[in-house]
Amino acid sequence: MAKNSTIFVCSECGATSPRWLGRCPSCGKFNTLAEEVVTPEPQKTAAKKSVYSLPVAKPLKDIGYERYDRVSSGIDEFDNVLGGGIVSGSLILLGGDPGIGKSTILTQIAANLSKAHKVLYFSAEESCSQVKMRTERLKLECSDMLIMNGTCIDNLEAELDGVQYCVIDSIQAVYTDDLSSSSGSVGQVRECATKLMRLAKSRNITFFIIGHVTKEGALAGPKVLEHIMDTVLYFEGENQENYRILRSVKNRFGNVSEVGVFEMTGEGIIPVKDYSGIFLSESRGEEAGCTVTPARTGNRCMNVEIQTLITKSGFGQPRRMSLGVDYNKLTLLLAVLEKRCGMYFSSQDVYVNVMGGIKLNEPSTDLALCAALASSYLDRPIDRYTAVFGEVGLTGEVRAVQYAEKRVQECVKMGFKRVLLPAKNLKSVGKYADKISIVPILYLGTMIKNLFPKEG
Ligand SMILES: Nc1ncnc2c1ncn2[C@@H]1O[C@H](COP(=O)(O)OP(=O)(O)O)[C@@H](O)[C@H]1O
Ligand SMILES: [Mg+2]
Repeated sequence: MAKNSTIFVCSECGATSPRWLGRCPSCGKFNTLAEEVVTPEPQKTAAKKSVYSLPVAKPLKDIGYERYDRVSSGIDEFDNVLGGGIVSGSLILLGGDPGIGKSTILTQIAANLSKAHKVLYFSAEESCSQVKMRTERLKLECSDMLIMNGTCIDNLEAELDGVQYCVIDSIQAVYTDDLSSSSGSVGQVRECATKLMRLAKSRNITFFIIGHVTKEGALAGPKVLEHIMDTVLYFEGENQENYRILRSVKNRFGNVSEVGVFEMTGEGIIPVKDYSGIFLSESRGEEAGCTVTPARTGNRCMNVEIQTLITKSGFGQPRRMSLGVDYNKLTLLLAVLEKRCGMYFSSQDVYVNVMGGIKLNEPSTDLALCAALASSYLDRPIDRYTAVFGEVGLTGEVRAVQYAEKRVQECVKMGFKRVLLPAKNLKSVGKYADKISIVPILYLGTMIKNLFPKEG
């Protein structure tokens, strides 16, 4: 058989080159050429053609149903995020920052599955004894689990006989001999993932693939990887914090709105069932600069505390730093507060932090962030039993948000006494009026007046 040759293809314009070049000669973009295998066209003979039945078009009514068998991973929260369990023969990508606990959670799942299935843990990053030490530290019973150490994915196939579940740790550390580029490069990552996909579909093996995240937050070995996968999960959280959130961004077998909350402990990763209140501090309400907002993660709502700090800037250029909130959103809201409410931040450093390492990216947190910033600016604390939510427009108007009812329900459950929300959401939450004081807000300025009434 002729040896596969390789070419370099530009990921921007598709131009090809026999050699690697720093700059694409066709579109002029830098660093876009990635190596790809050219498979020689198989000779199509008349005999070969007759063996395979060609795909034909059929009307929808003649199509039967496929049933997906789901198997529990042994961790309820993980099953929920997958849409009810692991579908056999699927490719599941787990992305996350280094040290977040990807290897830990997948070792736990592999150990659970190994009680009834044949499971292989292919570790390219750690030695077999390191994996064994981890299973012992986590007190897992999995003496039958197969462990393999190696970096060449081509060696994997021979070991897959009878294997039903396989963990690849990680896709950036493995390589295939078909390409000469080093592991972790775009070409390698894509080619290895494609090989795994073929194995998954042809031999009905479920692959859990660990992927690292780049500084920008995307899965390294860019989006190409996400297209190949059936399910893409992200493990989020700040390394120093104990809480982790598992989020699904793509799922061919379920919806992507479920999230799982986990706690990182010495005994591994434990699902957190009742997480109301874990993202709130004990001392809230005593110091200025903090508010609580009912944020939506997946199908559930939870109250999350936003903390802000404003200090006098020591340099000409004031600093803005935000953890858990988009930086651009922060600067935008500062500009709105300045223009519409007369709060001047140009000589102030502004710091924002969201408790528990949670990332808030809903527009409904705008109003709470404004409230926290105003509280810090005026140096007046907000009552600890007050929650705030709503979207803020550039004109300072407060817009309606989705799931107002669920948010208010969560505030009632958590014992909050007052909630400030968009006036346009008032109708849907009327039934809670006897349980919590509902304050409708039409403009940003109204909220400021409400939260910080003139003294005296
Ligand atoms: N020997 C150990 N004892 C206690 N905790 C450990 C030990 N080794 C790792 N950890 C914890 O596990 C985390 C790393 O988990 P790991 O699953 O290896 O992360 P990832 O695979 O996402 O890089 C570390 O942040 C650390 O908190
Ligand atoms: Mg790891």
